[in-house]
Order: sequence, then C-alpha cells, then structure tokens
Amino acid sequence: MRKLAAGNWKMNGTAASLSEVAALLAAHPAPACDMLLCPPATLIARMADLAKGSALHVGGQDCHAKASGAHTGDLSAAMLADAGASHVILGHSERRTDHRETDAQVLAKAEAAQVAGLVAIICIGETEAERDAGRTLDVIGTQLAGSVPQGSRAETLVVAYEPVWAIGTGRTPTIAEIAEVHAFLLARLTARIGAEAAGVQLLYGGSVKPSNAAEIFAVPHVDGALVGGASLKAADFGAIVAALAAA
Ligand code: 13P
Repeated sequence: MRKLAAGNWKMNGTAASLSEVAALLAAHPAPACDMLLCPPATLIARMADLAKGSALHVGGQDCHAKASGAHTGDLSAAMLADAGASHVILGHSERRTDHRETDAQVLAKAEAAQVAGLVAIICIGETEAERDAGRTLDVIGTQLAGSVPQGSRAETLVVAYEPVWAIGTGRTPTIAEIAEVHAFLLARLTARIGAEAAGVQLLYGGSVKPSNAAEIFAVPHVDGALVGGASLKAADFGAIVAALAAA
C-alpha cells in the first residue's frame, strides 16, 4: 500500500507559514509516499491552492458531526472538503482532553467525514498511567471499537496510534511496543471492518522526528506517521517524508 507522511500543525501557522509548504514542495515534488498537511482551518484553502497539482494533500484537524446548523464556531466536513481538504484528523488526544470528546462523538464525526468524501484519520492512544497499569491494548481496543465506523473502507479511513505521553515530549515507545500495538490494531480492525483493514494506513504519532523516523518506519504494520512539531518546518518534515519513501 502507499504509505502516508501526515503533519498536524495544531494551533500553529499563519499565511507566512506557507513559505514552508512551498519549500517542501520544491524539495519533494514527487515522493514515493503520500504527503498530507493539516493546518489550522484558516489556512486550508490557501494551502490547497498552493498544493494544487502537487503530491501534497491538505486536511482539517476536526469537524462537526452535523452537516449544517446552529453551531457557532464549528465547521462541517463538507465545508472542509469545499475548502480543498481531502482528510480530517478526528479524536486527537488534545481534543479528547480539551473538549472532552468521547468515542461516540468521534464515531459520529468520522461517519460525517466519510459521507462528505473525506478520509477520516482516527486517533487513539493510551495515557502514561494506562500504560504503566498494563492497560494499553485494552484502552486502544476500546477506542477503536468505539470510534471507527463499521462501514469504513481502506480509502475512507486512516488510524493513528498516538500514545498521549509521547506527544510533544521527545519520548517514544520502544520499537517492540510500537510493533505490539500495530499488530493488535490490524487484528482488531480486521475484526471490525473485515478484509478492508489490510489496506488501511496505520500511522504512528508522538515525537516522530528525522532522527527516529527510519527505525519507526521499519516496524511491521507502521504505514507512516502523524507528525506534530516536526511538521512545521519543511526541512524536518521533508526528512521524514524521505525516510518513509525509502522504507
Ligand atoms: P509531536 O510530533 O509534536 O509529538 O505531536 C504528535 C501529534 O500529536 C500529531 O498529531
């Protein structure tokens, strides 16, 4: 399957940041993997214009479960698609924490995203306390079962394993721990959506950087990365793209 290097800009970036995108495209015009950047919603349309005709896809970081209505400040999946997005990140741990999003809400958003023609990137991952208590597989199994739409196909779903304690900390699980989770994810996803699971890109996220990308990409069933901080700079994200293309 095609691998995916995805960047999550979170609440970072203004028009000036688009120079990083131009630099990325100049350095990696035709990588042997998919490239995606998810900027703040204010930049989606401009980034999509810049990426037109290139190998770069553009995505959102959240959407509402409803198609339209009285929801001040929210965006529907169709609006993201209209702005030029092809993907949307859903259920990121920062939203599960900051906005108390539940698995059921993430499921509803993912269904709405897929109806609107977007690829839903569903994020799951354990906290440090849950890992220390030996509950990692239990927690991510529950999140997967609760937030992945049953009718998902390989072209409409990406799953990102992001251990909460590895996000923005510079710490990562061991290679064996990532391998254990990704094998488990594939098995559970197969139980949920059948043979389609084999074609779903399974991403690892949490402190991925140029220096550790190659060893993470060598792990079985790691089909790419969801990158936070290191996706903001063309040089760093480009190095991660190159590592994935070579994996
Ligand atoms: P960092 O790469 O900054 O650890 O963030 C990971 C992440 O949360 C991507 O969604």
